[in-house]
Amino acid sequence: MFTIWIDRNLAERLGKADIGDLVATLDLGLSTESVRRVPHGVICRGIVLSNSLLGRIASSRGLIYMLDLFTMQGAFLTVTCGGRHYSLLPTGGAPTIMISGVQMHRRDDPWKDSLTKARAVVRPGDWVLDTCGGLHYTALGALQLGAGLVLTTEPDKCVRGLRQRNPWSRPHGRTGMVSFSFTAQELVGNLPKASIDSVIHDPPRFSLAGELYGIAFYDALRRIMKPGAKIFHYTGVPYEKRRGRGFVRGVGRRLMDAGFTVSWDEQTKGFMGRMPR
Ligand SMILES: C[S@@+](CC[C@H](N)C(=O)[O-])C[C@H]1O[C@@H](n2cnc3c(N)ncnc32)[C@H](O)[C@@H]1O
Repeated sequence: MFTIWIDRNLAERLGKADIGDLVATLDLGLSTESVRRVPHGVICRGIVLSNSLLGRIASSRGLIYMLDLFTMQGAFLTVTCGGRHYSLLPTGGAPTIMISGVQMHRRDDPWKDSLTKARAVVRPGDWVLDTCGGLHYTALGALQLGAGLVLTTEPDKCVRGLRQRNPWSRPHGRTGMVSFSFTAQELVGNLPKASIDSVIHDPPRFSLAGELYGIAFYDALRRIMKPGAKIFHYTGVPYEKRRGRGFVRGVGRRLMDAGFTVSWDEQTKGFMGRMPR
């Protein structure tokens, strides 16, 4: 209500619009509303966004600007933590995060991509573990699919900070998500045995969190999964150009060694695994 988000494309469009009413999205595509172009800026929700502010956003290098209309405090959604740069980036739909040049989500449409990952394993009523929370898209996808409970965790405080400012990361009336700030290993270590129906495992690339691709972690997941429970493990096909699919085959082998029945899904570029009954 009191917050709006503007990206470069929108700032350019508003800046060039003819005087009069037009329809725009001020929450990165979640909804649309009427705004009015006037000579000195754009009026939205009774507040004037000046031409100079729109010009500043239009000339930003693809960042998202968040403005609190109550205090008129605004900032680009970008932070530097531990020597790494984190930016929320517009995509035309749900934004993604770029961390020092590496994009967090795979496709043009991060929301659809995340829903596809959740759909691979989540059934209505499931108790779901979402190992790597990020922007909460897979966790919210699981809720949308009818999960009874979703446990999700994100240890990186900068990711959590941007997530808090991202309108797409809000539950929008969906209930049943519990969000932690542990590592996945810590959370899994503290869950009861055989308590989870489905696991969404969407880890960072191997070079950033190799332990999330290791047999010790897969064994720990097995402990907390119910008989017959399912896991979707996203890998993508990293290193394929230089090394073929050896890395991906290694993940599949370790999942099997941990006792899962495993199949590769070319569409989602991840493994489907199932616990024995
Ligand atoms: C590919 S992203 C996950 C995207 C997420 N599924 C979503 O819907 O936005 C991987 C996330 O794992 C987080 N991460 C890194 N190490 C982790 C760990 N040990 N345990 C849990 N999450 C971790 C990263 O900070 C990053 O946000």
